[in-house]
Amino acid sequence: MQYRDQTLYLEDVPLADIAKRHGTPCYVYTSASILGKFQAYEQAFGSVPHQICYAAKANGNLAILKLLAEAGAGFDIVSGGELFRVLKAGGDPAKVIFSGVGKTAAELDYALEQNIRGFNCESEPELALIDSLAARRGVKARIALRVNPDVDASTHPYISTGLRKHKFGIDISEAESVYGRARTFQNLVPEGVSCHIGSQILDIQPMLEVFDKMVALAVRLRAQSLPIRSLDLGGGLGVPYHKGETAPPIADYIHAMCQKVAGHELEILIEPGRSIVAEAGLLVTRVLYRKTNGKKEFVIVDAAMNDLIRPALYHSHHHIVPLRQTDADKIVADVVGPICETGDFLAREREMPNVFPGDLLAICTAGAYGFVAASNYNARPRPPEILVEGDRHRVIRKRETYEDLIRGE
Ligand code: LLP
Repeated sequence: MQYRDQTLYLEDVPLADIAKRHGTPCYVYTSASILGKFQAYEQAFGSVPHQICYAAKANGNLAILKLLAEAGAGFDIVSGGELFRVLKAGGDPAKVIFSGVGKTAAELDYALEQNIRGFNCESEPELALIDSLAARRGVKARIALRVNPDVDASTHPYISTGLRKHKFGIDISEAESVYGRARTFQNLVPEGVSCHIGSQILDIQPMLEVFDKMVALAVRLRAQSLPIRSLDLGGGLGVPYHKGETAPPIADYIHAMCQKVAGHELEILIEPGRSIVAEAGLLVTRVLYRKTNGKKEFVIVDAAMNDLIRPALYHSHHHIVPLRQTDADKIVADVVGPICETGDFLAREREMPNVFPGDLLAICTAGAYGFVAASNYNARPRPPEILVEGDRHRVIRKRETYEDLIRGE
């Protein structure tokens, strides 16, 4: 993303052209950035045995899944719907792992039918269910236990997952005895250990601590003759949302990870989502109105919390830039949408250029957990998604219509 002649471009496409042609609000992604991040992971692993399982929940558009599948990615899924999407996009089931604390029998059976690589299991009843479903199909299910290492990821409390008080995983102190019981099931092959301690992690130190614990656990399990061959070290690497914020480089993170696992003959699996797609996406919106209440300035735009819920839900910061660079005065304003809730804001008390009705803005770093969490609240059709490739762009999801809103009712 860069300004040329004061006009904001994504790769070689002026964003204003996209807005004019496809309307606002709209999500726009750059394929070069997505592939670049994926390759950064791939290259950092080098010859170390690994599988990158992109977390489809971060952005599950078919075109993006296809882009990654063609680049060789596997996928981390958390529902039958995500498996369906991944398969439709040409994803290889042999590279799919199924995570999640509440998988249903129907979802598990669908995944067994598709012969996915494996299941990251989070409770003993889940193990028993998979065993019985696998028996019925006459297959063996490859499983890992998702271990809860009781480590604080120092991120937003809603997206921190690795403490004992969280619903996720099997307590690390229980793990060995649960593996002991898992091996007694006839139709399960306990071949991995997995963990995921949270998302938007900017300090990798807690993760490195966890990796030590995971390696030690894998070594102990092998000593008990369990056939452990892979270590899934989760997703979670953060991205800079604030101007000036820095995230650990992908290469540094992966090199540190590989060092921890070196010498143990374990294949490393990872499940990154955000760090692959967040920075590749923008939500383009148009200013509808300006309003001043007392001293407070409001910029009312046509995107809202139904399109991008992150600011409302996590008070997350997204940098906002004008599509046409200006040297206008700065204002301090709340950028708000049309939804009838005070929580409907995209930015609060934000210093930004003085903008006017009709002006276009880009809400940055919106490629992850953006469209996927969009809703039809206030009967607002969801925005289109557009993929930029060099000097071309194409609609990879149409804007919803009013008819779409009532489909199924
Ligand atoms: N694996 C598991 C088991 C996960 O639960 C998650 C994210 C990931 C991988 C991918 O993590 P990532 O690399 O993207 O950090 N909606 C929130 C984020 C929720 C993350 C949930 N789990 C947000 O907008 O910040």
